[in-house]
Amino acid sequence: MFGPTRARRTAAILVATAAAATTALLASPTANAAPQPIVGGTTTTTTAYPFVMQITDASGSQFCGGTLVSATKVVTAAHCMAGETPASVRVVGGRTKLNGTDGTVSKVSKIWVNPDYSDATNGDDVSVLTLSTSMPYKPVSYVSSSQTGVYAAGTTARILGWGTTSENGSSSNQLRTATVPLVSDASCRSSYGSDYVQSDMVCAGLSSGGVDTCQGDSGGPLLIGGVLAGITSWGEGCAEAGYPGVYTRLATFADQVTAQVNS
Ligand code: ARG
Repeated sequence: MFGPTRARRTAAILVATAAAATTALLASPTANAAPQPIVGGTTTTTTAYPFVMQITDASGSQFCGGTLVSATKVVTAAHCMAGETPASVRVVGGRTKLNGTDGTVSKVSKIWVNPDYSDATNGDDVSVLTLSTSMPYKPVSYVSSSQTGVYAAGTTARILGWGTTSENGSSSNQLRTATVPLVSDASCRSSYGSDYVQSDMVCAGLSSGGVDTCQGDSGGPLLIGGVLAGITSWGEGCAEAGYPGVYTRLATFADQVTAQVNS
């Protein structure tokens, strides 16, 4: 979803705008790096990651990602579903490009949003969609509530999505992926203070920045060892040094997700 998640965002935009203006004045065109994935990463396909779903509006415009965890259930972020109804969203599987017409489009028969959800920075950012049409793609497994050990700092995680390839940039037409190390709770708290709710969130990113999810990647997967362990949730800007991406800590919500998957 697009939209500010924190008050500091306004200040960050002003700084970014000033920096961009300086860059435009000082850098030759060839000095500008080619647009990068997500932010920093590579293109990939839904053949390689068949469980990665586009979440679109009724007209087919993608606004979030999601993860297929059974033939008819998709895990996404609660903040992606704010203001949505089952009639207002579609899930698209097997479509690597935003402008593609391939794959499978399903309507949604039910949207479950964590009942404790209020704002991404308060945690509880998890939602499960029930599809009207089964997806003919292999789902991915997700962490169980006991697998709290997977979030050890330094562990490599994979992020995926069609989101913007730079802060305030444009979305990627093709699915992109990158890997980022998980960040300790203490480090993430030093970045975000009380907005970091360690029971409900996990941070990932390089201390120097440069690789991150960004706007439009929300709701999509963070994989650890090939298993769904996080949901793209929020961050200060994108790929900024000292501000890692924040992901829903899925193990905390695994039992609630399972109740929805089995419902
Ligand atoms: N809230 C954004 C979205 O709705 C995701 C932002 C992720 N930001 C980050 N720096 N990792 O698409």
